[in-house]
Amino acid sequence: MSFPLVRHRRLRQSVGIRSMVRETVLNVQDLVQPIFVTHGTNIKNEISSMPGVYHFSLDTLKSEVDYIASLGIPAVLLFGIPATKDSIGSSGFADDGIVQEATRLIKSWYPELLVIADTCLCEFTDHGHCGMVHTFEHDGHIHGDVLNDESLGLLVKTAVSQAKAGADIIAPSNMMDGFVQAIREGLDEAGFKNIPIMSYSVKYASAFYGPFREAADSAPQFGDRKTYQMDPANAREALREAESDVLEGADMLMVKPALAYLDIIRMIKDQFDLPLVAYNVSGEYSMVKAAAQQGWINEKAIVQEMLTGMKRAGADIIITYFAKDMAGWLTEK
Ligand code: PBG
Repeated sequence: MSFPLVRHRRLRQSVGIRSMVRETVLNVQDLVQPIFVTHGTNIKNEISSMPGVYHFSLDTLKSEVDYIASLGIPAVLLFGIPATKDSIGSSGFADDGIVQEATRLIKSWYPELLVIADTCLCEFTDHGHCGMVHTFEHDGHIHGDVLNDESLGLLVKTAVSQAKAGADIIAPSNMMDGFVQAIREGLDEAGFKNIPIMSYSVKYASAFYGPFREAADSAPQFGDRKTYQMDPANAREALREAESDVLEGADMLMVKPALAYLDIIRMIKDQFDLPLVAYNVSGEYSMVKAAAQQGWINEKAIVQEMLTGMKRAGADIIITYFAKDMAGWLTEK
């Protein structure tokens, strides 16, 4: 008998043979590019903790969207920084809200480019929580509870106003119980039966959202999000969250963040048949950027490896701040 018994290296010996047996291939169509839009004019400000990611005012947005569309990226995810905030986040569901305005513009420029609206209140509330809160003082500190059922109506209003503005997909991210069903019923009643819901089903209370909260100015002013976002230690709870969203009518499921939760992506993929989205969040982006700026890692190779890992784990769609870079690398010769 020859030795070694098996020669694995036979299938690794050339570029051609490696690409022939490759199991996972990223495509431009897998990618979603998030965009931050803000009030004002002539604004294109880099977010300090997210090099290469900007706040755009509506008058500077066109060239960014032109570039995204030219790369063949099929979808953008919009986040808004409103001019004013209040306790119920009313700028989130105003017909002339920043996300609504940006949606109308993008759809007028590129009817084929999908606009996904993040449906949440934390960017629009003065307290930075994802719903209505009941606050009280105790020992000189402000405490608060996020009110579940009371917040649902506001979320429905937000989703409907986003759909009216032309959003193609509603992506509720606020983690209130019953939010998918409430939004589904609200969209149906308003005549948007065919607008899909991409639910942030499995969203952890994660430190990886740190840079996003700077970008969206949405850090909670008191307390944290642990009563509505999931404990990073839990996996079986993710099955329960996803299951209820499926029963409530979600069209796609999401796991967020991605890198530290690849096991959860795989688990949800094996258990449910809906398209699965992974969100490669802000902190995951910033870590790579910081190390790359120091010259400590090869950014392109690292990003390709990370995104491939997410797809290998089961993601069908990847929301990533690297979407433009990745799309560029995929199309270069
Ligand atoms: C809104 C929302 C958040 C993110 C996406 N939608 C922030 C949060 O829950 O605090 C985070 C995205 C990122 O970190 O890139 N609730």
